[in-house]
Amino acid sequence: MSAQVDSRPTEPGVRAPMVIAIDGPAASGKSSTAQWVAQELGYLHVDSGALYRAATAARLRRAAGPDEPWTEEQVLDAAQAVTLVPGERSFVPLLDGVDADEELRGSEVTRRVSQVARMEGVRAWVNAHVRSAATSRAVVVDGRDIGTAVFPEAQLKIFLVADPWERARRRLIQRLGRGPADDEIAEETDRLVQRDRLDATQTVQAPDAVLIDTTYLTQREQVERIAALARAVTHRASDASAIDAG
Ligand code: C5P
Repeated sequence: MSAQVDSRPTEPGVRAPMVIAIDGPAASGKSSTAQWVAQELGYLHVDSGALYRAATAARLRRAAGPDEPWTEEQVLDAAQAVTLVPGERSFVPLLDGVDADEELRGSEVTRRVSQVARMEGVRAWVNAHVRSAATSRAVVVDGRDIGTAVFPEAQLKIFLVADPWERARRRLIQRLGRGPADDEIAEETDRLVQRDRLDATQTVQAPDAVLIDTTYLTQREQVERIAALARAVTHRASDASAIDAG
């Protein structure tokens, strides 16, 4: 597949760059799919969850103990150490200027991130970063509320779902690099369902989102479907502007 969609920065007065919003629950394959779709189309990927994780990790670095309660102000103060910079394929959140992806994906961050993500000020902080990343570049943004709260005007919205057992299985293969045993999958399924519950209020399917159940799809199939939808949307938009110009 080739990059056919124009992702050049927008000139003043020209239509805003394309935004593809991909939402869905934990481990539904959003980030890897979003990254791959972005690559197919020549866009940049923005992982909003990584920003929630970066704010959580920044606060954890200053934490006195594992269960210390945090105020929104403390989290926002710590989050000043986070910057979002464009990388080769994705925008990367830096912590004190350094890519700390492993720390962001660690179990302590995962354990506390949903609590941090419920803070309104933190949501506003993440949304401002994500919107600013999309001002000059066409982007594929993944998260929980991208098509509703962050980019309600996104030209294409996708909501990815998958059976929890299958989500747990995929996550473990990614993490362990081998086929997991059933008891490992069962344990991971419990963790995912618990996180779904904690994230339920902020995980919202936009009424105009295309729902894709990936349980029986390969990742390539998911990517191809979304890229095909994106091409259809951009062709329709360019046909409409040709009619307007005529
Ligand atoms: O996508 P990921 O699992 O890395 O996201 C980490 C956490 O960030 C989620 O569990 C959720 O609490 C929060 N999140 C959110 N809204 C988003 C993206 C992530 O609340 N748009």
